[in-house]
Amino acid sequence: MDVLLSRQQIADEVARIGQKITQDFAGQSVVLLGVLKGACMFLSDLARQIELNATFDFIAVRSYGAAKESGGEVQLIKDVTTPLQGQNIILVEDILDTGLTLSFLKKLLMAHQPKSLKIAALLDKPSRRKAEIQADYVGFQIPDKFVVGYGLDYAERFRNLPDICIMAEGD
Ligand code: IMP
Ligand code: MG
Repeated sequence: MDVLLSRQQIADEVARIGQKITQDFAGQSVVLLGVLKGACMFLSDLARQIELNATFDFIAVRSYGAAKESGGEVQLIKDVTTPLQGQNIILVEDILDTGLTLSFLKKLLMAHQPKSLKIAALLDKPSRRKAEIQADYVGFQIPDKFVVGYGLDYAERFRNLPDICIMAEGD
């Protein structure tokens, strides 16, 4: 598979986002809320670039549709386990594609009455957006190609690739 973003490019960008979050929330604490499973690598690397009082939580969703596309319907399959009221939440996601997943999660999390809610998405495919939503911190805008690696999967495979690669057609 062709490499779209190398491990070094990813590391540099994650460090930049971590520094930005450190500045933006100086003197405050943050809850890094990862969307399982795709965001696991991004969250663990990003967390180590944030020099703030930080805690973790995780949420999991399932969206129905073809393997390479999220369907219209998003379902919560694992909720948060820590109180979020009055907290600065940073929702950490691998990729913002149609936006259906993050707009569903944003609505769900706002019901917890956080102090603030920001979205950090490593990748963004703006050309595919269906829901009106933007990330506050974006690593890379990418073309409309299906990518795998660094947490991103195709049918649960390839999450462990260290680089982000373009999925070969017909695989
Ligand atoms: P959205 O709801 O369409 O924004 O989709 C978000 C979810 O779709 C992500 O969390 C990924 O799990 C999945 N997804 C979207 N594009 C890709 C891709 O290119 N590779 C792997 N997963 C993707
Ligand atoms: Mg996925």
